[in-house]
Amino acid sequence: MIPQDDLIRASRTCLEAGVRILQGFRLGGDDRAHVAALLEFMAPEDGTLWADIGCGFGAVADLMQEMRPDLGFVLINNNAFQLERAPGRFVRLNADMCAIPLPDGFVDGCMFLYALCHAEGFGAALQEAARITRPGGSLFVFDYERLTGDNRLMVRRLYAYALPFAQIRSIAKASGWDVTMHTNPPGSDAVFRRLCDDEAEYEQIFNDLRPVVWKAVKL
Ligand SMILES: C[S@@+](CC[C@H](N)C(=O)[O-])C[C@H]1O[C@@H](n2cnc3c(N)ncnc32)[C@H](O)[C@@H]1O
Repeated sequence: MIPQDDLIRASRTCLEAGVRILQGFRLGGDDRAHVAALLEFMAPEDGTLWADIGCGFGAVADLMQEMRPDLGFVLINNNAFQLERAPGRFVRLNADMCAIPLPDGFVDGCMFLYALCHAEGFGAALQEAARITRPGGSLFVFDYERLTGDNRLMVRRLYAYALPFAQIRSIAKASGWDVTMHTNPPGSDAVFRRLCDDEAEYEQIFNDLRPVVWKAVKL
């Protein structure tokens, strides 16, 4: 669990640096190009409602809806500082990703963008996402996968972890999701790298990881 005081401090630093999308890797040269690339992978069906789980400042949902006004979003975050700064036109729920106050099958899809890596239980968070998603609905994830090494330093410094994709796939299956695609998109980590103060430690944590986009269908 991320200590909320640390997260608020880091959130302020990001806002001061003009960073509202809290992701380690960017698929485009600016926020708009990045979110457009994410939308292309996500390929949401017309008029669908999505839960943005671990939504940060809601900046991604904001841009996605600007590009695709037919889409709806419910924002979920257990950090009040960020949630209060998310666009007020969305329903914003201050909740843990493993206990979301929405009825079964309420949304057409869930997305976790650099959020599942913070889950107390990877499977528990995916199960909760499956619960709130209608049968046949979608899951869209952008995060890291682990190529080698272990999570000790990542957990200690970032309160996050990354799993090998084979493990992600099998946990997803056991949590009610059938993985339909995964890919390692091209892009850059320059924005996130600039925010980190220890270059050597950054290399130590991220050399063993690779950004991954993956999608699944609710079984
Ligand atoms: C790295 S940030 C990504 C934010 C956002 N998805 C984005 O792309 O800008 C991780 C987010 O997950 C949220 N988070 C972490 N643990 C959570 C939990 N247990 N329940 C709900 N949200 C959580 C954090 O507050 C933060 O908003």
